[in-house]
Amino acid sequence: MDELIKATFNADGHAGKYDKKAEKAKWHAPEIVFGLAFDYIMAGESILDLGIGTGLSSKLFSKAGLKVYGMDFSEKMLEECRKKNFAEDLRQHDLSSLPYPFDDSSMNHAISVGVFQLIEDTGPIFREAKRIIKKDGLFSFAAMHRKDSEDKDKQINPKVCGGKPFTVYSQSEEETKSLLSSTGFKLLHKIEFSAVHAGKKTSFVVYTARAE
Ligand SMILES: C[S@@+](CC[C@H](N)C(=O)[O-])C[C@H]1O[C@@H](n2cnc3c(N)ncnc32)[C@H](O)[C@@H]1O
Repeated sequence: MDELIKATFNADGHAGKYDKKAEKAKWHAPEIVFGLAFDYIMAGESILDLGIGTGLSSKLFSKAGLKVYGMDFSEKMLEECRKKNFAEDLRQHDLSSLPYPFDDSSMNHAISVGVFQLIEDTGPIFREAKRIIKKDGLFSFAAMHRKDSEDKDKQINPKVCGGKPFTVYSQSEEETKSLLSSTGFKLLHKIEFSAVHAGKKTSFVVYTARAE
């Protein structure tokens, strides 16, 4: 996971090595997101991957017959994703820049995996996901879990992230549930899992919700 976070912090610099690093880091969020979504998806449907990176998560949906669309601000990560040749359309776009370049109700589903810990305010992402996903579509994402006693933001030691300090953000279950209900999603499933992050065992949660 240390390696995964390094890759995330400097996505452009690590794009070519990202998949190998994620495998070595035993980062299983893509498989958990796909597994929890499996009962609700159908071949031929569309899915938007917010922060698609090299496509580790959405490639699984493509194998199940879904049409994958992706957004990421790193052109190098998108280049790696393009080499895999499974996505219908990939757009370079910053998730903090609104609106996203997709029409209202244009996608059946959306996912965002390994991205929320890099973004302080995820509210706009939830609102854009709700605008873009059709009614009854899924929104599934992985977030770094925060217990009540912990701070939202955490400085990552420069020694473990390639020389430069950076901040990661965690989300409490209460905050996530409140964001989901205020943006029009109904929570279907959540699974907590652990990964080693910055040298420490760290809790993450995958949430699967339905657009109402
Ligand atoms: C840890 S990677 C995860 C990639 C992919 N979702 C996966 O499941 O393997 C995080 C990705 O989020 C992208 N990202 C981070 N912040 C972003 C932002 N504000 N706008 C767009 N993409 C962002 C990075 O470029 C990187 O590709």
